[in-house]
Amino acid sequence: METLDLAVLEHRLETSFLGRRVIYRESIDSTQDLARAEAEEDAPEGTLVLADAQTAGRGRQGRSWVSPPASNLYFTLVLRPSIDQLTRLGMIVPLAIAQGLETATPLVCGIKWPNDVFVKGKKISGALIDSDIDGDIVRFALVGIGINVNFDLRLFPEIADTATSVLTETGTNGSREAILAAVLNAFETHYAANRAPALFTEWRGRLINLGKRVAIHDYDGTVVEGLAESVKESGALLLKLDDGTVREFSAGQLNIPNLLPARDLA
Ligand code: BTN
Repeated sequence: METLDLAVLEHRLETSFLGRRVIYRESIDSTQDLARAEAEEDAPEGTLVLADAQTAGRGRQGRSWVSPPASNLYFTLVLRPSIDQLTRLGMIVPLAIAQGLETATPLVCGIKWPNDVFVKGKKISGALIDSDIDGDIVRFALVGIGINVNFDLRLFPEIADTATSVLTETGTNGSREAILAAVLNAFETHYAANRAPALFTEWRGRLINLGKRVAIHDYDGTVVEGLAESVKESGALLLKLDDGTVREFSAGQLNIPNLLPARDLA
């Protein structure tokens, strides 16, 4: 069984702070919970909480994140961002994942608004971004990322229609250490740089659902359908409803497959 090699990870890192402190567990309930406890205990910015397997991995909107051992990447970064950096995280996270995967594998990645990473119409990575804010002060942010690397989806038929992995797409195993290092290298570059317009342009350029008919879960759980017309520099999506009005969504989930057929995502 292949274990994660932290020496290889360190060797490939080009960051100054991201991933320079690593807390590694072979198995954990969720990296997000340990990262929160570490953040409460003054863990330094850039602390990486990494696990080989999760027993209670979480996705967005109360879903679970399938996290078997020896195959994928599950990690949470502890950040202490400025308000400005926090507002950019929603774009930085998927862009860094997409660029990291493209650096370390032959894959070409798109972003499904707001921050899922897709390859050929299937999800290869997702992220949870939690923050703890006290007035104007951001105490910390937790960026939890799952990337499907050597995931044999034939063993998980319940998600095989919607999810993919490096192994599934390329037919060969990817290096988890190389992918993680490449994601962290790209992440730190975007996080440290104060170049919001370029970030926005790069993120928008990868969106796969602009101009498509989509459905979004509103805050109260109702589903809103419409045409994903455009995105604003804040990252908000402008959705044109069937009655012609335009609604703005700052976060949401485009996850109703029959409204967004796989061929439209390619
Ligand atoms: C989603 O797309 O629904 C978000 C998935 C986030 C999964 C990662 S795996 C590491 C971290 N720990 C968790 O429990 N979830 C995130």
